[in-house]
Amino acid sequence: MTKRVAFVTGGNGGIGSAICRELASRGHQVVAGYFPPEKESAEAWQKQMHDQGFSIALAAVDVSSFTDCERAVGEVTEEFGSVDILVNCAGITRDGTLKKMPEENWSAVMATNLDSAFNMTRHVINGMLDRGWGRIVNIASVNGQRGQFGQANYSAAKAGMHGFTMAVALETAAKGITVNTVSPGYIATAMTEAMPENVLESIVNSVPMRRMGKPEEIADAVAWLSSEANAYTTGANIPVNGGLFTSH
Ligand code: CAA
Repeated sequence: MTKRVAFVTGGNGGIGSAICRELASRGHQVVAGYFPPEKESAEAWQKQMHDQGFSIALAAVDVSSFTDCERAVGEVTEEFGSVDILVNCAGITRDGTLKKMPEENWSAVMATNLDSAFNMTRHVINGMLDRGWGRIVNIASVNGQRGQFGQANYSAAKAGMHGFTMAVALETAAKGITVNTVSPGYIATAMTEAMPENVLESIVNSVPMRRMGKPEEIADAVAWLSSEANAYTTGANIPVNGGLFTSH
């Protein structure tokens, strides 16, 4: 297996951690991007990973900033080599009905969840094109596919992410690069833990599998999409949602 450099934004989050562990266990050099103000908790997370047997590097990166992504990708490239695998996993929620949504809750979610995909991908794409190999996986959401009460901002950003996936997949398909989306359903992480308990409970009851997903179930899909084995699936949106939403 070829050892690759994998940059996972939001790497210290619930789903991001599982992705980092899975890619590290496949022998890659994994770099976890974290939100700069979270330095202390990111370092504690790194130690925890180390104690579990995973050696994962850290990179501070504000994914909502084009120039900060450029800086972070530059530093990672200098230290570890060119980024071959990019997983755009950083994301936030600012839930609330549209009628009450402040402009900053729209802007923050668009910047962190959608602009981020451009901000990061733009700085790795030319290297991947030059080398003729690359894997990009964008972590979207079931709520980008079906909409969700209280998530006009989040649903729009996540749907936009897959539009980005499809376009970039076309632009890079002939150059050894695959670009795909994984759309998780309700996964047991801090993000879903922050939901009102009764709302979460009623959503989980509506999941055909009658349970939340595990971060590892997302990581498995990401690991395959970013592997050598996946040379022919590109522009796809892989649902990992317990049957909550199905489509053609
Ligand atoms: N469908 C229809 N009506 C609903 C509803 C629903 N799902 N949820 C609430 N309502 C109704 C209420 O019954 C209430 O009706 P009345 O006014 O007639 O009494 C009204 O809407 C409440 O509206 P408000 O604007 O006052 O909303 P609120 O302040 O009570 O809070 C909310 C609404 C913040 C959206 C809250 O319901 C919530 O947090 N929902 C969770 C949204 C969600 O699923 N987030 C996912 C987070 S995890 C994640 O994002 C990861 C991922 O990818 C899956």
